[in-house]
Amino acid sequence: MSGRVVASGLRAVVVGIANHSSFIRHQIKAFSAVRYCGTHLTKKLLLYNFLHMSLNHSFSHSSCLLSSSSILSPFLISMASSLHTQTQTNTNGTNGDSASDPKSHLCKKPRLQSHAPVLSQPFITPSDILSEFSHHDPSVARINNGSFGCCPSSVLSAQRQLQLQWLQQPDNFYFNQLQSRFLESRNIIKEIINADHVDEVSVVDNATTAVAIVLQQMAWGFAEGRFHPGDAAVMLHYAYGAVKKSIEAYVTRAGGYVIEVPLPFPVDSVDEIVQEFRKALERGKQNGRRVRLAVIDHVTSMPSVVIPVKELVKICREEGVDQVFVDAAHGIGCVDVDVKEIEADFYTSNLHKWFFCPPSVAFLYCRRSTKSSDLHHPVVSHEYGNGLAIESAWIGTRDYSAQLVVAKVLEFINRFEGGIHGIKKRNHEAVVEMGEMLVKAWGTHLGCLPEMCSSMVMVGLPACLGISSDQDTLKLRTYLRDKFRVEVPIYYRAPKDGEVGPVTGYARISYQVYNKVDDYYKFRDAIKQLVDNGFTCASLPN
Ligand SMILES: Cc1ncc(COP(=O)(O)O)c(C=O)c1O
Repeated sequence: MSGRVVASGLRAVVVGIANHSSFIRHQIKAFSAVRYCGTHLTKKLLLYNFLHMSLNHSFSHSSCLLSSSSILSPFLISMASSLHTQTQTNTNGTNGDSASDPKSHLCKKPRLQSHAPVLSQPFITPSDILSEFSHHDPSVARINNGSFGCCPSSVLSAQRQLQLQWLQQPDNFYFNQLQSRFLESRNIIKEIINADHVDEVSVVDNATTAVAIVLQQMAWGFAEGRFHPGDAAVMLHYAYGAVKKSIEAYVTRAGGYVIEVPLPFPVDSVDEIVQEFRKALERGKQNGRRVRLAVIDHVTSMPSVVIPVKELVKICREEGVDQVFVDAAHGIGCVDVDVKEIEADFYTSNLHKWFFCPPSVAFLYCRRSTKSSDLHHPVVSHEYGNGLAIESAWIGTRDYSAQLVVAKVLEFINRFEGGIHGIKKRNHEAVVEMGEMLVKAWGTHLGCLPEMCSSMVMVGLPACLGISSDQDTLKLRTYLRDKFRVEVPIYYRAPKDGEVGPVTGYARISYQVYNKVDDYYKFRDAIKQLVDNGFTCASLPN
């Protein structure tokens, strides 16, 4: 079998995956469009219909595909794998071929075998899920996946194997495996986020690192005289704390002007966000300033709301903003991520939050067509100048194992019906249901419409708890952890003038595959007990 035959087979598979993914995306959109107006039975019927059609579609495309890239002909897979291994094996250079040849990271195909379950493999069962997360403390209602994510034990074992391989013969791993395994992770991510080229995808530690990479180039814009003092960066008021600090460190210090987009909370409609964003851009352009960068969250952290990124990016383009960076720390596995549709210059998402990777892995997507980007990893190694993806794949001696198990993670994900889309959709439905159950029990309300929530929902806490500062939220969170074994972050919202009995505290609940209804009942009952006992935050020690 010649390489050419295998290559054309591969092309057919990749086309099949692309067709299949867009079909699935279309079906999910259609299904979610009706989800809030149908009865429970209607939803079930639609879900059945959706799965049925997806299966039929899968078999009629490339005859062997189920859920993006999940089922491939074993023969093709093994050929693809060996071809890939041959192209990846390197024999020289201080860092292997990929590292020493700056072009070698371009457009290589993913190694598909490692994330392709066979058709006969049944979906994951509840007891499998229990065992995959048996390292979680069973005494804790862990309804805060949003902060630190989770990682199943099958992936942790694979990671451990890699760590041992490194320790057994680090030189061999460094010269013959590290770069090809990085490339494998990047190729998988590229497919999932629908990027054009693998060289648009860099793997980094976390969203915080990605933010530093993007903002550093902005600081250079000022230092090198391309930007003028007072040129602006725009960000949401609810940008993550570390992102705000990074903007202070890289933009304000360099002479930039920072504009925050005030956002209402609770928020009643997407329009409110869009209007505030437009106003902020207008302010940014006053006095002849240019808006050099807009930083937009895909899902804000606290309070958590899904931001209409596509629409905001479009507005940025219309208004002449130089570059747009989407901070989607909660992106992949939590909301739909299609970087071609979103059209931002830069997009980062963690994989350790909602994509089951061990801590810590994120990607930074940089659109190839983006003009004047001069991106470098802030930790400079001998790979400096070889392109961001290669720079990011060696930032000195350290443990890279988390970043190399993406294929194993995908294998785990594809054991679930519908793969990552199925998980995301079910998590969203479940968290909304749990949120609605809680607000009903406590007589409060959700922080936004269900369609503006991801796999996290803001749930109003009873006003009588007397949450009156950020410090109170921390104290209450600690109290819930220590006394009730409930792990949940809380947000303080200052009352508006004239509001009577306002809800000032919102809990951000998450739902991930390991969660059970009992976790939320435990939280419900803890708060009920506090209310019944006349508890207020003022009674907690500082
Ligand atoms: C919106 C947002 N940006 C950035 C981050 C930082 O992520 P990490 O700590 O993984 O770098 C977070 C973390 O929760 C976040 O929610």
